[in-house]
Amino acid sequence: MSAGQRPGVQAAGPSHVAVIMDGNGRWAQLRGLPRHEGHRRGLEALRRTVRNASDLGIEILTVYSFSTENWRRPAAEVSFLMTLLKHFIEKDLTELGAAGVRVRVIGGRSDLAPDLRRLVEHAEATTRDNTGMTLVVAFNYGSRDEIVRAARRLASDVAAGRIDAGAIDESSLSERLDTADLPDPELVIRTSGETRISNFLLWQAAYAEFVFTPVLWPDFDRAALEEALTEYRRRERRFGGVSEPSGRNVGVA
Ligand code: FPP
Repeated sequence: MSAGQRPGVQAAGPSHVAVIMDGNGRWAQLRGLPRHEGHRRGLEALRRTVRNASDLGIEILTVYSFSTENWRRPAAEVSFLMTLLKHFIEKDLTELGAAGVRVRVIGGRSDLAPDLRRLVEHAEATTRDNTGMTLVVAFNYGSRDEIVRAARRLASDVAAGRIDAGAIDESSLSERLDTADLPDPELVIRTSGETRISNFLLWQAAYAEFVFTPVLWPDFDRAALEEALTEYRRRERRFGGVSEPSGRNVGVA
């Protein structure tokens, strides 16, 4: 079933929504709580958003949960975020699987602890054949790192004679990204009032619409998600004209 046929979603989509979940620290600070409490509540907001997105007919939800730059945070915070991912996979996998959600993790794997890597692989393998929403967790993810890794693969393929350097085109690179088999996001949402892309899906978001909301991530709820979708569709209508079946306008910069 396509997004256009699901209740609550107009034919205009978006079918792939990506979210920069920002503001956990500020949410905690405003309440005089430690930062990790903000992340813990951020995980609850993530669970809620997965349910809401699926309910609203979104086909792919990509969330930025740990960037390649986040390693610079205090060791205790890094370790807490690692534990949160572990916890999320271990505790939520059964429920996600039962809801038909397909889990994917993008980002560098070699820096992850072996037990976390195994968990990630297990989550992907056990949900691979699910047909509901795809949840893409960007963890230890940075766009520049992803593009560098793809360029390395391309260089090895050229060196091994599998591809001719002169034949390299956009799809040669995009096929080597972590998102190889995923369509580009049509909408990128960033919470907490910041208006940066912060090394997130630089290649994939080339034609995406951006919605910035002041809501801090732990407070992000169904109304905030619906507001972002409405804003996306309003822009679609305003710039209308020639549209692809996905609902994305073409020929409009
Ligand atoms: C940005 O807020 C948020 C993060 C770096 C982590 C995002 C993590 C979650 C939403 C919890 C779910 C986690 C996993 C691993 C599944 P910030 O800490 O930069 O907030 P601030 O800018 O207000 O300090």
